Amino acid sequence: MRGQLTALDAKTGKELWHFWTVPGPGEKGSETWPSPNDPDPARAKAYLHGGATIWQTPAVDPELGLIYFSTGNPGPAAGSDFNRPGDNLYSASIVALHLDGTYAWHFQAVHHDLWDFDLPSPVVLFDQVYNGEMRKAIAEAAKTGWVYLLDRTNGKPLIGIDEKPVEQLAKVASSPTQPYPVGDAVMPQCPPELPGWVGKCIFGAIGDDPILMAPGGNGGPNWAPMAYSPDTGYLYVTAAVRPQSRILSGSPKKADLPIGVKYSGTYTAIDPRTNKIVWQDKMPYSIGQGSGTLATAGGLLFHGEPDGNVQAYDAKTGTRLWQWQTGAGADAPAITYEIDGVQYVAIASGGVAIQTSSANGDMVWAFSLEGSPGNRLGEFQAPKPPATGVEYAGGAVAPKGSADAGKITFDKTCSSCHGATGQGGPTTAPRIGGTALLFGTFIHLVRQPADQMIPFPPTILSDQDIADIYAYLQSQK
Ligand code: HEC
Repeated sequence: MRGQLTALDAKTGKELWHFWTVPGPGEKGSETWPSPNDPDPARAKAYLHGGATIWQTPAVDPELGLIYFSTGNPGPAAGSDFNRPGDNLYSASIVALHLDGTYAWHFQAVHHDLWDFDLPSPVVLFDQVYNGEMRKAIAEAAKTGWVYLLDRTNGKPLIGIDEKPVEQLAKVASSPTQPYPVGDAVMPQCPPELPGWVGKCIFGAIGDDPILMAPGGNGGPNWAPMAYSPDTGYLYVTAAVRPQSRILSGSPKKADLPIGVKYSGTYTAIDPRTNKIVWQDKMPYSIGQGSGTLATAGGLLFHGEPDGNVQAYDAKTGTRLWQWQTGAGADAPAITYEIDGVQYVAIASGGVAIQTSSANGDMVWAFSLEGSPGNRLGEFQAPKPPATGVEYAGGAVAPKGSADAGKITFDKTCSSCHGATGQGGPTTAPRIGGTALLFGTFIHLVRQPADQMIPFPPTILSDQDIADIYAYLQSQK
């Protein structure tokens, strides 16, 4: 793909302009790609599928007449770069355009990305005092684990971002330096020690030998939004902690699954005046994919978890104040709105297939101070809190399962990690097809997994569902 932003006339739908996020030959920034005259045809055409796609709707500052967005990784993606030497503008960047679609400024957070450290989260515009002066600021939380803080009039760092040398690997044309923002990262940027693994920290070179790396390309603050509260002056960022095994594609060797690495999440308040952590909550799930965060003027933060809970936190202290089980993965951003003087907070609870694979659903929940469990609209019964599922361990009789029904549930709920037939997943999940586990152990592991898998409480999968899946897996020798 070649990313672009398109402006349409709101009345007629007619295209007014478009901006390619990968510049064409001769355009500003094209010098960061191979020449279109390169004798190697793959390099000559690299810009035509250079990636840098845009994950979200942009933000606009009408006073400055600027429109802002952040971009994804360059293509081909991480681990397979041989045909795009150069910085690859405007991939992994924050970009500002004039309202007529012409370039204003850019800031590239990762040069010549080799790790899938892109910037899928929406930018946030805010005003804040720096050195006694009110500044127009823009913030972006990226998969590197850092928050990038810029002056939105010109794209210059507000409190410093230093170019530092990084490990080099000539055959993937690594950039000699990468930008390191001053301040704290919202998640670890080095992997845990795991026996048998070579660990590498952020910007380490991915070569022909397997490494365990953090951040993983599937972690960090991802597409979920962060929030800014003008009351506290803090930014609120959710991030996924997902160390990842990595190897250059085409390597004759193989990177095994780093079983034993624990996934988790962080929920962080960052003070954008210093880019330092004010408080941080460690979360059970790797939440960077999920709901992100919403800040309200009532001093609250709202966040949804893949286990179905939507939660409210105190914006000053990070204390969890309230939680409600919605019955499916609460993975969409919460919103707030007002009707006839009543404020509502709403969240779509539908689950997400990618990575967290939380339970599917099709609900929208709205909450107000006037609501109560007694006057909710509709038939839906609030699900019971998750039980432990250990009841079968003592030898109770398991429900009889149907392999056909199990296949359907497995496809929807488990196959994204464990593979279509339970043969094992591409990155982390073990083979479970033809499982030799007793049902009591099986259901226990599904209800209370060891490590990287999210738990499936009875609110998400009934015992019958798990018995069906078990029957299906036993048929997949
Ligand atoms: C998000 C990815 C993911 C999803 C979705 C997922 N699993 Fe897992 N599963 C894992 C990983 C990773 C492990 C390895 C142990 C661990 O880290 O928890 C695992 C382990 C297991 C085990 C233990 C295997 C053993 O031999 O010890 C079972 C059983 C299992 N999963 C069943 C399921 C079922 C059934 C589903 C669907 C309802 C499912 N998993 C969905 C990632 C996933």
